[in-house]
Amino acid sequence: MIDHIAQLREKIESAIIQDKSTLESFRRDFISKKGSIACLFEAFKQLPTEAKKAIGPALNGLKSQAEKKFKSAASALEAATKPSTQPPVDVTLPAFGTPMGSLHPLTIVQNKIISIFQRIGFNLAEGPEIVGDWHNFTALNFPENHPARDMQDTFFLQRDPDQLLRTHTTSVQISTCAAQSPPIRSIAVGRVFRNEAISTRSHCFFHQVDGFYIHTDVTFSDLKGTIYHFVESMFGQETKLRFRASYFPFTELSAEVDINCRLCQGKGCTVCKYSGWVEILGAGMIDPNVLTNCHIDPEQYSGFAFGMGIERIAMLLYQIDDLRLFSENHLAFLRQFTAC
Ligand code: DAH
Repeated sequence: MIDHIAQLREKIESAIIQDKSTLESFRRDFISKKGSIACLFEAFKQLPTEAKKAIGPALNGLKSQAEKKFKSAASALEAATKPSTQPPVDVTLPAFGTPMGSLHPLTIVQNKIISIFQRIGFNLAEGPEIVGDWHNFTALNFPENHPARDMQDTFFLQRDPDQLLRTHTTSVQISTCAAQSPPIRSIAVGRVFRNEAISTRSHCFFHQVDGFYIHTDVTFSDLKGTIYHFVESMFGQETKLRFRASYFPFTELSAEVDINCRLCQGKGCTVCKYSGWVEILGAGMIDPNVLTNCHIDPEQYSGFAFGMGIERIAMLLYQIDDLRLFSENHLAFLRQFTAC
């Protein structure tokens, strides 16, 4: 009988109950009064007392194993056939979107500027953020007592006061000229640092693009053509622009370029200081002293250069009136650029 019990145990264990009819077969085979377990109980009655003592617990165990399996299968089947209390799933609904990251607006604008100049033959150059006085000032023809050299404007390194955080990307012009010989058509982008109070219009670090072209017979009209091309590509053909005479130590003749204010359409606002015009870049013909400092003969070669703040361009392009937004990393601000 013990063998018979063991066989039934296995059968019960491996029985698969998946619907009402298999449940009914299970009940009939094992649980019902004519089922195999009931038959075993009938045979059990005939056994001598000693054998009953030995086999009784195994037989009772078999009975409860079968009943347990039957009960849990019956309630699982009942639950499956009951109408669900959950709302029905509508498989035609659109899926939840995966939130997309975005490029930072300054990266977007920087990439646009780079591609505008690369399309007309400028090569991208890189330079370090920590430079010596030579690259940032002296080679660029800054007089010894120029105010920009002052501690007020420039962050000098404490461990080596001849080293400083570059105040403009014009410093890359010097390292590029030292590494190449004309003709050179180059742009550099990057972060620059100045000891300025943080406000809606200024920051202690910001980003610039500097470009220059050195070749035989480069003239101011080459510079104008390049700047017109840039302004049209960046802001559209209808944009008005003007050149104003200016001064930079490293250019002679020097100019600043303004475009009509896109925030107020020329009516006057805080960004254009109620003038209707906004300065976007500085430019000029490279001073012969700078060429000499870079071992380029100014008798043989001439060049133009220009430089601009990327934040300023981004503010005009996207109508942003507070420079601080670019470095504060508010997600609500940054998320607006996902589609750009
Ligand atoms: N370095 C100047 C600045 O930071 C901008 C500039 C002006 C760059 C004229 C140039 C240039 O290359 O020719 O304000």
